[in-house]
Amino acid sequence: MLELFIDGKPVRAEKNETVLQAAVANGISIPYFCWHPRLSVPGNCRICLVEVEDEKGGNWTDIACNMPVAEGMRVLTDSDAVRAHRKAMLQLILLNHPVDCGICDKAGECALQDYHYEYSGLRSVSRDAKVRATKFHPLSERIVLDNERCILCSRCVRFTHEISKSHALGIQERGDHSLVRAVEDGRFDADPYSDNVIDLCPVGALLSRSFLYKARVWYLQATPSVCPGCERGCTVQIWHRKPEWHLSALDPRQNTAIARVTPLENPNVNGPWICNKGRDLARIFERPRAEQAMLTGVPTELSAATAAARRLVAAAKRPVALVSSWGSNEELAAFKAHLGGRFASFVKQDCRPAPGEPLEDDLLIRPDKNPNTAGARKLFGDAAPAFRNDTDLVLVWGEGFDFARLPRGAKTIVLDAYAHPDNARADVFLPVSIQTERQGHYTNFAGVVSAFEPCFPKRASVADAERLFVSLAAAVEALA
Ligand code: SF4
Ligand code: SF4
Ligand code: FES
Repeated sequence: MLELFIDGKPVRAEKNETVLQAAVANGISIPYFCWHPRLSVPGNCRICLVEVEDEKGGNWTDIACNMPVAEGMRVLTDSDAVRAHRKAMLQLILLNHPVDCGICDKAGECALQDYHYEYSGLRSVSRDAKVRATKFHPLSERIVLDNERCILCSRCVRFTHEISKSHALGIQERGDHSLVRAVEDGRFDADPYSDNVIDLCPVGALLSRSFLYKARVWYLQATPSVCPGCERGCTVQIWHRKPEWHLSALDPRQNTAIARVTPLENPNVNGPWICNKGRDLARIFERPRAEQAMLTGVPTELSAATAAARRLVAAAKRPVALVSSWGSNEELAAFKAHLGGRFASFVKQDCRPAPGEPLEDDLLIRPDKNPNTAGARKLFGDAAPAFRNDTDLVLVWGEGFDFARLPRGAKTIVLDAYAHPDNARADVFLPVSIQTERQGHYTNFAGVVSAFEPCFPKRASVADAERLFVSLAAAVEALA
């Protein structure tokens, strides 16, 4: 470690760090566009310039993102020279930038907008017309590019070269005719991590088609959650409408809809990235729901179905339970505590890879497409589900069970959150809540436990599995 001084404040840094890294680590603000802690340093935006005091009076300026720290060095981040330079750089960067903020999805989260107001605020001094470039360029099926907004920081290009390794993006032409473009062989479409460039883009040049013009970000709030798309369990933020901005006209379904999903940085699990499946959680969570309890396919009240399930549990001689690998640690523990002694229990794989889905890679994606297999196996072991000839009751919790495998004559209790034709085949069907309606934790394949919070209220006709298991346990207690 060594000591340097930033704006007169003593700061400790590792020998191989840069001034920008030392400043960020110590909460000192230096603006940056092209620098990113997980990417290489191109030093092309020049906004991070700082002044270094020289004892002999010859102060010099250079970019902080590529300036190694040195023992005793004295750095100024807000001197007259630095302020003048920032203003000049913002004039240059904004020379051809359109004033699109009123319609730009990045407004409210845009580094360029923020820095302009913080460090410049000046009108353009240019009298020349802005150079026009492509708007709504289809970079992939998921992303559109506005080249007029692009400040050529190259973060997106470097991401595909250094992180996702698809090498799918590059920059064509030179000077103010430069354009970010995708390689024309479809590999950016095939890059399962492509949407990370949307977050990386410091301005509103890279736009998600699924989020395009959907909401201003200040109408949304982010709820911390966990992606259930595979056993990595990436931590994410699920964005949805703030209660104070709820719609009563237009389309009120937007009040309980997922607007977008972004990574929740987590050095122990996913770093700052997620894959595109994690972006598309609305496709998982917003499938048609099962919201009606049933007895042999006939709709009934939740309380009547719960009572019927209790009777089946009490009457069974050889009951088997297939517990869900999408159950939270809390739900799994409740099942174990209240019903574990009554059922021979096996962990079920609720989801298997979809056709064409990436199975596994060396960045994040894991082969098991369930979020809590590790948590479930910790409590119930890893034996494959097995029935005996005399199995007389099967409790199926979650999706993915093949009803053709049911032992002949066995009664069934099914707990599921989504609408499936097989739900009506159960003797008792109990609709249950989904992850966005409750709190809980998942344990990922490496044993890391991550929490998720509720985004939306649960409907009254739908059961909370944790409470349901307590209620079903009354049947077990009656037998004791
Ligand atoms: S599109 Fe965005 S991330 Fe890519 S070079 Fe332009 S400004 Fe940077
Ligand atoms: S790697 Fe797995 S857990 Fe992470 S975002 Fe993708 S599907 Fe979700
Ligand atoms: S952040 Fe240093 S040059 Fe861009």
